[in-house]
Amino acid sequence: MQRRHLIHAVGLTAVALALPLAAQAQDNVFKIGLILPMTGQQASTGRQIEAAAKLYMAQNGDTVAGKKVVLIVKDDTATPDVTKRLAQELIVNDKVNVIAGFGVTPAALAAAPLATQSKTPQVVMAAATSSITEASPYIVRTSFTLPQVSVAMGDWAPKNGIKSVVTLVSDYGPGNDAEKYFSERFQLNGGKVLDKLRVPLRNPDFAPFLQKVRDAKPDALFVFVPSGAGSAVMKQFLERGMDKAGIKLIATGDVTDDDQLNDMGDGALGVVTTHHYSAAHPSAANKKFVEAFQKANKGMRPNFMAVGGYDGMRVIYEALKQTKGQGGGDALLAAMKGQVFESPRGEVLIDAQTRDIVQDVYLRKVEKKDGQLYNVEFDVLKAVKDPGKAK
Ligand code: PHB
Repeated sequence: MQRRHLIHAVGLTAVALALPLAAQAQDNVFKIGLILPMTGQQASTGRQIEAAAKLYMAQNGDTVAGKKVVLIVKDDTATPDVTKRLAQELIVNDKVNVIAGFGVTPAALAAAPLATQSKTPQVVMAAATSSITEASPYIVRTSFTLPQVSVAMGDWAPKNGIKSVVTLVSDYGPGNDAEKYFSERFQLNGGKVLDKLRVPLRNPDFAPFLQKVRDAKPDALFVFVPSGAGSAVMKQFLERGMDKAGIKLIATGDVTDDDQLNDMGDGALGVVTTHHYSAAHPSAANKKFVEAFQKANKGMRPNFMAVGGYDGMRVIYEALKQTKGQGGGDALLAAMKGQVFESPRGEVLIDAQTRDIVQDVYLRKVEKKDGQLYNVEFDVLKAVKDPGKAK
C-alpha cells in the first residue's frame, strides 16, 4: 500500500517537473527543503545545521540570480520513514529545487530514490557512511566519510606506541565503516585488534562493553559514536577508570564533538582524534565563521555538523548563481560538481566523479585554551579522498 502510494507520488512529481518552465519560474522563488533531526537523540545535529544554514543566508542574502531563496526546515527525528514522507511532500507539494540536510545515514538513504526519480539534487550535510553517494546520482555530500577520517588514525596510532586496540562503534553504517577502515589500516601497520565491539545506536549502555575492554587490556580503545553521543562515552570511560588502567582513548572527532567537548571536563584532556573540522582550526576564514556563528547563536560553538551545513548552502548558492536561476535539477547538479572553495575547515573540493567531498584530515589533541577545551590540530593529511570509493 505504502509502495503504491509512493509510486503514485513519484508519478505526480514527474508531471510537476514537466510543467512549462515559465509556470514554475512565475513565483521566482528557489526552495531548499532542509530535512533534519530537530528533536530526539540527534537533535544537536539539527540545531547546528539549521543555525549554520541561516547564518550562511544572513551573510550572503536571500536573493540569488534574481530568485528569492526560501528555506523550509522539517524535523524527521532521524527516523527514515519520516524522512521519506517529508522528502516526498517537499518534492511533490512544495516543489523544492533541492533537498538537503540528512542527520543520519538511514535518513539520507531513505530519501535517495526520491531524489533520483524526481531529478532533485540531494545535498547530504551530515550523514557520513561511505556508500551514501552511490545511493543516487543526485547526491552531493558536504560532510565527510568515516573511512576518510578513520584511516588517518590507523596510521597515527601504531607510530605512537599503540600496538593493540579494541574497537567500539555504533552498530550501523558509519560505525561499521569506522571499524573496518581503522582496523584494516592499523593491522597493515602491524597493530593487533584484540576485539571489535558494536553498541546499539539507540540509547546505548556502554558499561558492559567497557568492562570487556578492561578485561582485554589493549593499549588503546578506538571509538566511533555519532555526534551527540560522545560525552556519554567519555563519562563512562573516565568513571570506570579506564585511563588509570593504562588504556588510552583514541577516536574519530565525532566523539570529542565541539558541541559537547567543553562540558566533558578535564578528563578529556590529551585525547587524540582524527577529523576534518575543529572550531579551533587556525585560519582567518574559520575565526570569522566561529565568531559570526557564536554571535548569532547565543555563544553556541559550531561543530563539524554546522560546517557541513554551511558549506552545503555554499554549494547550493553557487550552483544557483552558475545556472543563473534558470536551471532544473540536472543543471544544478552539474554546477555543484567540481566546486573548489575555502571552507572554515580548509580547502575543499566536490569531486565531480564521486560527488563526494575531498578535504584535509587533521590529527588533533584535546587541550585547554583560554579556559576552554578544544581539539587542537597538530598534523594534517592534505586533500584526502574517501578511501571507501576505491573498492
Ligand atoms: C551518520 O549517521 O551517517 C552519522 C551521524 C553522526 C555522525 C557521523 C555519521 O557524527
